[in-house]
This record gives sequence, C-alpha cells and structure tokens, in this order.
Amino acid sequence: MDTTTVETILTSLNHRHIITTKDFTKSELELIVRVSAKMEALMLSGDTPELCKGNILATLFFEPSTRTRLSFESAMLRLGGKVITVEQGCSTSSEKGESLKDTGKIVSQYSDVIVMRHPEPGSVGTLSSKSDVPVINAGDGPNEHPSQALLDLYTIYSEKGCIDSIKVGFLGDLKFGRTVHSLVKLLSNFDVEFVFVSHPSIALPDYILELLNEKGCKVTVTDCLVTAIKDLDVLYATRIQEERFESKTEYEGIKDQCLLTQEILDGSKSDLCLLHPLPRVNEISPEVDDDPKARYFKQAQNGVYLRMAILSIALGKVKPSFLA
Ligand code: CP
Repeated sequence: MDTTTVETILTSLNHRHIITTKDFTKSELELIVRVSAKMEALMLSGDTPELCKGNILATLFFEPSTRTRLSFESAMLRLGGKVITVEQGCSTSSEKGESLKDTGKIVSQYSDVIVMRHPEPGSVGTLSSKSDVPVINAGDGPNEHPSQALLDLYTIYSEKGCIDSIKVGFLGDLKFGRTVHSLVKLLSNFDVEFVFVSHPSIALPDYILELLNEKGCKVTVTDCLVTAIKDLDVLYATRIQEERFESKTEYEGIKDQCLLTQEILDGSKSDLCLLHPLPRVNEISPEVDDDPKARYFKQAQNGVYLRMAILSIALGKVKPSFLA
C-alpha cells in the first residue's frame, strides 16, 4: 500500500462513525490492522504515542461492561487524552425522557469522540445521527459490536500471520452474539471458510447466512463440535447470552450446549487459535486456559492496541509517516 493510498484511506476513516462492520472495505481493515500492530509495537517498547493529547473521549454505557469500557478508556489515556464517563445509563437524563438524538447532540459538545453501549438494536446509530463527533458502537443489543470484531480480526492476523485461506469456526450463541455478527461480516471480506456450530435454536440469523451466500463464501452449519473442530484454524467460542432470552426456562434448556473441554480441544489441529470475546460463564473449561491454543486473554489485551488505533484514526491523528 503506497503513501497516497494510505492517506486516502485515513481521510475516509477520519471523523467517521463506527456503527456496523458492514461499512468497512478490505483496504480499510488492512490499514486498521497495520495501525494496531504499530500501536502494540510502540507500547511494548515503552514509547507510547501521545497522539490524542487535548482530546476527550466520552463513554456512555447503558449495559454492563468490563473489557470494552475499560480498554477504550485505557486506550485514550495511553494516547494522552482524557475520559469522561457514564457507567450506568440510568444516571443520565434519558431516565427523564431525553431522546438518544438529543443525548448525542449534547454529549458531542463535551467530547471529541463518543463510545456507547445500549441494549436496543439501532440505538447507537440513532444517537450518532445528531452527534457532531464520531460515535463508536460498543454493542447495541444483539445487533453489532464492531470494535470487538476489529480486535478479533487483529488477533487472528497476529496469531495466524494472515487472514486469507483460513477456516474459522463459531461456537455457541450465534443468534444473539453480537460479536459473532460483526466478526462474520468483517471476515466475509477475506478468503475465509466458515463453520457455524450451535444448537439449532440459537443458530446464526438467516440474513447473515444470506450475506455470506451473496459473497460466495463457503459455509458449513452443524451441531457437532467434536467433528467440526478437527480441521479449524480458528475457533471463536461465545457465551450463551442469558440476558437476551425471553424466559429463564428457555435459557436453562440451552445453557449447557456447546461446552468446550480439554478433551474436545485435544481433537483440534496443533496450531488452532482459540478465541472468546469474554466474559465466559462455563462454555470454556478453566483447565483449557493453560493450553497454548487458548489465546482469549491475549485477545482481550489486543483490545487496547486496536482501540488506540481506531480512536486516533477517527480523530485524524494518524498520518502515513506513523507507519513508516
Ligand atoms: N467482550 C466484551 O464486550 O466484554 P465486556 O462486555 O466486558 O465489555
């Protein structure tokens, strides 16, 4: 990628909202991966770039979070910026009936970039429509979680050395798992073969299967992990999203499906990369944590590097020379 191309892509990403992973081109994704790798290298060498000095990040979380909120805030602080935060959406004036559009307009007067999580699909897009600053979707109900998918993409690249010509399995709650929805859309830009392993009642939504079909992607749907795991390069396990089920009984009936034990993992390729967006409940046995295939804690750490990259790109702080 030459300097002019890098500059063009950076300009196209500057001040752009990140609401859905469908918006990204392959070149944009490759550049985001490169900037993330540079951020990681700089951090590991102790040479933190203060690219966002003077900027303010606002984090608005209407649902619980450990990784997403704290890693965004850590990323902004490491970039030399500052953070204002709402940990509990119920402490904002939305409790008094203020609309998401008005909230977006107001918070954008107080900050340079907004990160928001909310239980309603489409809510972050609604807030962004009146914001004067870039808005990043940190999860809108079961719909999407683009920054998680970007850090997953970065992790796959770091672990496998490439994103093309790999077979990726998705395990667990593929119906409500927003990280799955976002990552599948991103990976459809690459030469990836997909394997979806779940109980039929929590299978991937049809509209995403149709999208993969339109793009000519090779797809297998199964409920047999023991067979499916044998020739995967990456396995992306997910939590059964208890909070999205209509009844506790329905959740109880499904919660112990798709459990990954050491014995099942031993049936995979020696270089399988096992990922999970976390939090996990009981879908990956803790005995698996010490297996070199388990890369989910490194994946969570990569969230800081990736979020440093997308914050500084969104604020127009990354120049082609940064990648030299
Ligand atoms: N992966 C993820 O979104 O984690 P949190 O819910 O802790 O932010």
